[in-house]
Amino acid sequence: TTVQTGFPKNFLWGGATAANQVEGAYNVGGKGLTTADMVPFVPKEKRGLNFAIDVTSDYIEKALNGEVDDRYPKRDGVDFYHRYEEDIALFAEMGFKAFRLSINWARIFPNGDDAAPSLEGLEFYDRVFNELEKYGIEPIVTLSHYETPLALTRKYNGWYSRELIPLFVKYAETLFNRYRDQVTYWITFNEINMMGHSPYTGGGVLVDKLPNQTKEQIAYQALHHQFVASALVTKLAHEINPDAKVGCMLARGQTYPVTNNPEDVLLAQHYNDLNLFHTDVHVHGEYPSFMNRYFAENNIVIQKEIGDDEILKQYPVDYVSLSYYMSKSVASNSEDYEQVSGNLTTYAVKNKYLDTSDWGWQIDPKGLRITLRDMYNRYRKPLFVVENGLGAYDTVEEDGSIHDTYRIDYLKKHIEQMKEAVKEGVDLIGYTAWGPIDLISMSTSEMSKRYGFIYVDQDDEGNGTLNRFKKDSFEWYKQVIATNGEEL
Ligand code: BG6
Repeated sequence: TTVQTGFPKNFLWGGATAANQVEGAYNVGGKGLTTADMVPFVPKEKRGLNFAIDVTSDYIEKALNGEVDDRYPKRDGVDFYHRYEEDIALFAEMGFKAFRLSINWARIFPNGDDAAPSLEGLEFYDRVFNELEKYGIEPIVTLSHYETPLALTRKYNGWYSRELIPLFVKYAETLFNRYRDQVTYWITFNEINMMGHSPYTGGGVLVDKLPNQTKEQIAYQALHHQFVASALVTKLAHEINPDAKVGCMLARGQTYPVTNNPEDVLLAQHYNDLNLFHTDVHVHGEYPSFMNRYFAENNIVIQKEIGDDEILKQYPVDYVSLSYYMSKSVASNSEDYEQVSGNLTTYAVKNKYLDTSDWGWQIDPKGLRITLRDMYNRYRKPLFVVENGLGAYDTVEEDGSIHDTYRIDYLKKHIEQMKEAVKEGVDLIGYTAWGPIDLISMSTSEMSKRYGFIYVDQDDEGNGTLNRFKKDSFEWYKQVIATNGEEL
């Protein structure tokens, strides 16, 4: 037996973005509006550290009628639409082997249910893929990263409706055919478990339109439609290109018990299962039995059609991708502990062994190793860390330099632990750091929550030249890639 001594030779080092957070040009080239284009900027004083607001149907209609005076940072992003050549050249300079991006559904089908795709939309991605090819950078393409066409939200209430399945399949088919020779790695739904946290963000579903149902009931129904759609496009991708690799994507919420009280341990296991059930469905092709009990006990009834179970069973994913930013701890007697306010951690308590980011996210490099080992043991499928990084405030010095040692420290410790997991036998195919170039925050729409190796001159109010500058982490990451993770 051989023991893996480091990252495999073809390891896919790179960075990850989403169309709605970088592209801008929200109404250029015939693009339709998406749900992300309707999320207003809300200052921290009014929202707290993390999520901005829940968008309602009433708000959307008022905003479309020009009755509100809000700003929508994701509409402008960081203008990747016009600056992709410069940005990709910088990625190439860092030695990127892979670049994860999403295609904005509404650039291709502006209303989601149009008869034919928009040529202008496709031609933008042609240019991006050609540019990546020029540098030998492998594209990792997410089909849906919080970019449901707004028209589908207004007409069908997003993924709550089964009607979205064939529309999504048609969209995917258009891309699989056009990019058959340029794209091998596809991801169906970004952080599919986001549906449980925000049906609007995860699937363009407005819960206020379904007043007789609980948010959970709505979320699980919409999620079922995404599971079926994901399986159907996995089938299609392989029919169009037998070499295509299709993955699912989970926001991994590694949860620890706060003590060794079996009550706490069981609670942590419960949260881990509620999180991992999403990848269970994608990999094993069926709902795990603990979820069936959970649905029954919580009066959740999922409307399925005949054939759905077979579809899930027949077309599992080729690999499992995940985002990992933090871990959580839970207590059965949570009143006795300090709560943390980090994103998606409403049920979490403070872990006294960990530091938190400026946004309250508990930084835990070893948690990544624990997660990778657990997930590999559970699935025995290749894993891909497609998001990880530190959202932080950066300071530009007088000479224009940016000394982001905190970011280097965060990434270094996570990569170190990832390497340990690889040495322990985890089949890991790549690592794409989140936001290699500063972009608009998903949860808060802030610009000042920065993840990049590349700084973008723009503030929370949208002012700035949009010029790009290298941070200290730029040279550092270049070295990491050049040595295949040996020099950290
Ligand atoms: C993931 C998303 O949840 O985390 C990204 O897939 C997002 O879209 C990233 O940007 C970081 O979250 P945030 O809220 O700091 O932008």
